[in-house]
Amino acid sequence: MPVDFNRPLPVGKEQEYVLQALQSGHISGDGPFTKKCHTLLEQALGVPRVLLTTSCTHALEMAALLLEIKVGDEVVIPDFTFVSTVNAFILRGAKPVFVDIRPDTLNLDEARLADAVTPKTKVIVPVHYAGVGCEMDSIMELARDRQIAVVEDNAHGLFGRYKGRNLGTFGALAAQSFHETKNISCGEGGALVINDRALIDRAEIIREKGTNRSRFFRGQIDRYTWVDVGSSYLPSDILAAYLLGQLEERERIQAQRRNAWNTYAAGLRDWARRNEVRLPTVPGYCEQSYHMFFLLMPNLEVRTRFIAHLRERGIYTVFHYLPLHLSDMGRGFGGRVGDCPVTEQVSDQLVRLPLHNRLTGADQEEVIEAILKFKF
Ligand SMILES: Cc1ncc(COP(=O)(O)O)c(C=O)c1O
Repeated sequence: MPVDFNRPLPVGKEQEYVLQALQSGHISGDGPFTKKCHTLLEQALGVPRVLLTTSCTHALEMAALLLEIKVGDEVVIPDFTFVSTVNAFILRGAKPVFVDIRPDTLNLDEARLADAVTPKTKVIVPVHYAGVGCEMDSIMELARDRQIAVVEDNAHGLFGRYKGRNLGTFGALAAQSFHETKNISCGEGGALVINDRALIDRAEIIREKGTNRSRFFRGQIDRYTWVDVGSSYLPSDILAAYLLGQLEERERIQAQRRNAWNTYAAGLRDWARRNEVRLPTVPGYCEQSYHMFFLLMPNLEVRTRFIAHLRERGIYTVFHYLPLHLSDMGRGFGGRVGDCPVTEQVSDQLVRLPLHNRLTGADQEEVIEAILKFKF
């Protein structure tokens, strides 16, 4: 049996709930399952409002609309992230400013922020890489001083914490992902977490094609109409039904992943030290979300051989982001080799090991055994 990188399978009542949704006659958005997901997430995170979206990408796009990002504005983002973190703001005409990452946590390097912001900076988008919190104290302080909005890209970090506080609750807004690669998923999905109450009404309107239909459904107005810009960002209740089944199992999922993460760390620590391989760094004040376990191999050549070595043994591993500033788009915005040296190096070194909700102890033994046999 191969050891897959990811196996997105049901873990609780997903199938039962999907069937209920299909039989209920309400399969469009904002049905009973969507409402249950909203309430569960609002209570679990302790936030005023959560709105399910069709993806994290769309939650980020909603954030850009809500903050009224326009041509000439600048958005500060880490160079080591997924394209959606930046695309959402580019779509509105903003210019990206790529900031290098910290060599330890691989999160946006807060020490470089002061040099990156200008009077044109409208938003900083920290990404909690692998669900390990960014240095939110410094980031929020700088943002407050300069009156810059913060949108957390928390695609990896649901239920992670920084100094005891939930990730996704620091910025005015945060974006979650429920893509099939995430700890909790519904195939394709996301959520916008709204911490700034002043943005709630407009968020509901933007998500409902620029109409005040949400207020109409709550009986607050007697007809609904077009009141603002917007798009269709709400998922079908069928997806929300699947998601609720996963969310209800969140403690079991998180405990299983913590266990799997710790098994890798314990099994590979000595090997890593002997071979100049780095394991993830998690500061003591960060409770991570156990979203991924990665290794930083000595260089690209070793990593390429390492991935092939494991694949030959039926074990599937993947590398992660390429530096955004060196992509075709990034170069178009002026990116040059050497701009973000840590990202450039890490991007060549990082490899993610299989970590998913169905990974067994036997799978992990196989992975660790195969890794220990790798010849550098
Ligand atoms: C940091 C980050 N942000 C955003 C996304 C986009 O998520 P989605 O596929 O839900 O749009 C991803 C995807 O994996 C991601 O890694």
